[in-house]
Amino acid sequence: MNRFTGRKVLVTGAGSGIGQATALRILAEGGSVVAADIAEAGLDKTRALAAEHGTAAAGLDLTTVDISDEDSVREHIGAAIERLGGLDVLVNAAGILDSRHTETMTLDFWNRIIGVNLTGTFLVTRQALPALLATGEGVVVNFSSTSASFAHPYMAAYAATKGGIQSFTHAIAAEYSKRGLRAVCVAPGSIDSGMTRAPGLPEDADYGLLAKLSPALGEGFAGPETVAGAIAMLASSDGAFITGTELRIDGGTHM
Ligand SMILES: NC(=O)c1ccc[n+]([C@@H]2O[C@H](COP(=O)([O-])OP(=O)(O)OC[C@H]3O[C@@H](n4cnc5c(N)ncnc54)[C@H](O)[C@@H]3O)[C@@H](O)[C@H]2O)c1
Repeated sequence: MNRFTGRKVLVTGAGSGIGQATALRILAEGGSVVAADIAEAGLDKTRALAAEHGTAAAGLDLTTVDISDEDSVREHIGAAIERLGGLDVLVNAAGILDSRHTETMTLDFWNRIIGVNLTGTFLVTRQALPALLATGEGVVVNFSSTSASFAHPYMAAYAATKGGIQSFTHAIAAEYSKRGLRAVCVAPGSIDSGMTRAPGLPEDADYGLLAKLSPALGEGFAGPETVAGAIAMLASSDGAFITGTELRIDGGTHM
């Protein structure tokens, strides 16, 4: 399939996990991709994987950015869109997870998670909107999580950001629908990534509560490519009539 030939795509969080798999998938389907991440080493790995997979590594550009920092987004995302010469698809995959008992959650902890996940999604989207609207058929894919709709103990801050991202996505989908923009969320759960390997759970976490987060399908977590394939569908013309909604990708954890 070559659903992204001639299309310009920016993926944040592309140095690891689902963002990286999405960047590689879109490259493999002929797109031009800017892979953005705060971690330079992750981006180096993305470049190496693109070359290794024989995907069109020539279509790959890299940029470091801190999505929680307005100046960094303006400078690095702004320049990346200029280099691309426009933007058809934005995939806001960058995010962080950390867990605490809510009664011991400091304001700094809360603000750090909100700053990256929710404010970062806003800042990058705002920077990209003029270019996305200029195409008349721009697409934004945001990252919710099953935690937005189903209880995830110790992750109140994280879950709040994901609920916020869903609402933000619905709002922009309505606001820009007449200008051809589609905005959707993926809501993954139980995907093997940097984040789920180190969720930062409290030492005395109640694993009885957490057991409810196990997928029904398969033997455990799925690979990030599973989500990348769904994003490729949503962001391509195959998803042309899908907007203002979320697609849950969790192996039937919540049915
Ligand atoms: N893995 C899962 O099961 C799961 C479930 C639900 C939602 N998600 C969401 O999927 C998205 C991708 O996460 P993942 O699971 O691939 O985790 P990951 O940790 O492997 O990847 C996240 C990437 O975001 C980058 N990042 C973090 N802070 C950043 C910042 N300030 N600026 C720029 N980049 C930054 C990291 O460096 C990393 O490369 C996240 O939004 C996450 O919340 C994942």
